[in-house]
Amino acid sequence: MTASPITDRLDDPAASRESGRQKIDWAREHMPILDALREEFEAEQPLAGERLGMAMHVEATTAVLTETLAAGGAEIAITGCNPLSTHDDVSAALDANDSITSYAERGVDDDEYYDAIEAVIDHEPTITVDDGMDMVAAIHEDHPDLIDSIKGGCEETTTGVHRLRAMDDDGALDYPVFAVNDTPMKHLFDNVHGTGESSLAAIAMTTNLSWAGKTVVVAGYGFCGRGVAKKAAGQNAKVVVTEVDPRRALEAHMEGYEVLPMDEAAAVGDVFITTTGNRDVITRDHFESMQDGVLLANAGHFDIEIDLDALSELAESDREVRPGVREYALSDGRRLNVLAEGRLVNLAAPVALGHPVEVMDQSFGVQAVSVRELTEASYEPGVHDVPDELDREVAEIKLDAEGIDLDELTGAQTEYMGSWDHGT
Ligand code: NAI
Repeated sequence: MTASPITDRLDDPAASRESGRQKIDWAREHMPILDALREEFEAEQPLAGERLGMAMHVEATTAVLTETLAAGGAEIAITGCNPLSTHDDVSAALDANDSITSYAERGVDDDEYYDAIEAVIDHEPTITVDDGMDMVAAIHEDHPDLIDSIKGGCEETTTGVHRLRAMDDDGALDYPVFAVNDTPMKHLFDNVHGTGESSLAAIAMTTNLSWAGKTVVVAGYGFCGRGVAKKAAGQNAKVVVTEVDPRRALEAHMEGYEVLPMDEAAAVGDVFITTTGNRDVITRDHFESMQDGVLLANAGHFDIEIDLDALSELAESDREVRPGVREYALSDGRRLNVLAEGRLVNLAAPVALGHPVEVMDQSFGVQAVSVRELTEASYEPGVHDVPDELDREVAEIKLDAEGIDLDELTGAQTEYMGSWDHGT
């Protein structure tokens, strides 16, 4: 069975469309990169004749990207890339666009989630846009017949790029995909500032608790972890970092954070935020030593960083104590609180808004020019870096919008930077 568009499933589609449109309009006001690209796309129609299949977090900024791509001439089918991150009103507003069909709905179960991906694939996309690679995986597993007509794909996040590279290494990736995550304009801003700001904001809004004076354990000191750690320290929390990579552990140490193995950090933390993109980072042994009342949140892509099955087994009971907060009561009286079911907290908590709009403007600016690139040049199957000039193009639009000027290399400087024979 495949899903029907969101509009067919809502009680009051008109009211949802209106509230979704308000959210999209507000976001668009603050997305000058996509605005500039939309103007170009409207005039030049680079995506005319393309069918885009998208699996993304369907919230307001994604909607601005989707409408920008539609303005470039594409027909689009979209669904969510996480069962809890869709804003139904935004999904409904998108579905009202003649060129867009949205299947995204918040709170779907696993079957419904994958049915919606199938519904998007039924549109026979010529280009895919993924956040986490579920669409690419479903096409390769169940619809290999479509691959010949697919020009390529774009992948938004670290975990998706990791999965794609693993697939590529196995010789199993049969069409080209751009690693949008890996561009400077994406991961130096989105993963660091976006995840940092929005994860802390979502945790604060979900719990109404202060950061000041708390010990915050950040698992993973990659791009997301750096942002979470820095923003938590900025809110007067004491930050402890856990890592498995010696260089990243050292970097966290040199930034002034305490670095501990999770076995030790578990006993001292008040709030735990996982950002590893890995699995089983917080497990039964760690739950055993945690303090009463701790908060457990995940900001990595999948909900497997905190072992919730082990916590359920360990707990005598569990109950929702606030929207988005599930308290697990242990036999010795301690209570551990899991936020947003261990799904990425900045998008899946009940009041989560996702990354700040300006940050998503950059990430989605790179998405938009990468989709355009797939229509202009042909690439071999496999994972590809986004051409650097496209990333620079997006940065230049943003600087222009901010009214920031920068210097240019002189001819002599360019020559010097490319030479090896100027010594002392
Ligand atoms: P990254 O690769 O830069 O950082 C991950 C870090 O975790 C690495 O330093 C690695 O050594 C460390 N790590 C791995 N296993 C560990 C373990 N067992 N214990 C402690 N540390 C461990 O990746 P990045 O860009 O920071 O992304 C992390 C995750 O966040 C990915 O799943 C990514 O898809 C997701 N993400 C989430 C966003 C959000 O909105 N919540 C936004 C962007 C990325």
